Amino acid sequence: MEGIKLKQIGVSFKGSGSYVPDQILTNQKISKKVDTSDEWIKSRTGISERRISSPGDNVTEMGYEAALTAIQMANWDIKTIDLIVLATSTPHDLFGSAPSIQSKLGACNAVAFDLTAACSGFLFGLVTASQFLRGGSFKRAIVIGADQLSSFVDWNDRRSCILFGDGAGALAIEATNEFDNFLGFDMRTDGGRGSFLNLPSKNNKDSIIDNIDFLSGGFSSIQMNGQEVYKFAVREVPIIIDELLKKTNYSSHEVDWLVLHQANQRILDSVGERLKIPGEKILSNLEKYGNTSAATIPLMMDEAIRNNRIKQNDIIATSGFGAGLSWGAALIKWG
Ligand code: UT7
Repeated sequence: MEGIKLKQIGVSFKGSGSYVPDQILTNQKISKKVDTSDEWIKSRTGISERRISSPGDNVTEMGYEAALTAIQMANWDIKTIDLIVLATSTPHDLFGSAPSIQSKLGACNAVAFDLTAACSGFLFGLVTASQFLRGGSFKRAIVIGADQLSSFVDWNDRRSCILFGDGAGALAIEATNEFDNFLGFDMRTDGGRGSFLNLPSKNNKDSIIDNIDFLSGGFSSIQMNGQEVYKFAVREVPIIIDELLKKTNYSSHEVDWLVLHQANQRILDSVGERLKIPGEKILSNLEKYGNTSAATIPLMMDEAIRNNRIKQNDIIATSGFGAGLSWGAALIKWG
């Protein structure tokens, strides 16, 4: 309507946090369990070790620690948080773990819910939360990515067990009228290729009474076609980032950091090569943590922010990809 100019609400990045369990499982130790070697794992994936939750740890505890450190960096009064989104595929409670995190934090004014999109979960959660901020409904949000895949790995399957570890990361984001540091995003799903990586339910038929049967709850272990997932990632991730850069009028030279889901160092290198982004701009901590699913992106960002690598106003291209199959990308300016 003429005469009325609505002010655009933008998103600002205020804090980051992360948490990993203490137990370290090295490649040498895995090679005592399955027929593999440090040399094979290191050369094919870049991973040297990963963190494994102790029986006392869980996604709620890890997510809480990551969220708390992000809130401390943002310097927020916890009661001012409006929204908590927990991206996880391995909740401590199938009805949702975000409410327990909300309660433990004392974030009594926040609505909290889980979101499941496997390794794309954090990216999808960040986009979801940012839409609530842009829409004007909420001002402050915490987005957490946390996973405990060690509980669902088949520790006798050398083709998959070497990849995964446990951890959590979080970002604190805020609505602002002054600028917009969420420069753009894109998200995709192809359920037709979902069988390449899944964690299906167990179909244990049981009976309640007489002829009334039911399927008892439970899940099997991670099933993965590694080669197909690899091909999917190296093809789709450069395309979605490239299209996002074009859409937002940025060139790959203007990207300060490429923060990809930490799946395999060879995937990171290949995506960087295709986008013509040099190795020194591609952040990686795979060596220490392996693939922590929804946690990889905020875990990596938090480390780089605290090491003073990612600085205020740096341009970050990020992409999550994995089971679903699902993938997405976001272009953000830190701060
Ligand atoms: O969030 C997404 C999660 N998933 C992924 O990121 C998976 C993406 N894919 C990958 O990272 C790679 O495909 C893997 C690391 C999983 C496997 O690497 P690869 O280079 O694709 O190996 P491959 O599956 O082609 O297997 C090559 C050989 C096979 O032996 P043969 O048949 O050639 O004799 C495998 O049996 O390596 C063997 N192999 C192993 N050997 C030692 C497979 N796993 C192992 C192992 N140790 N752990």
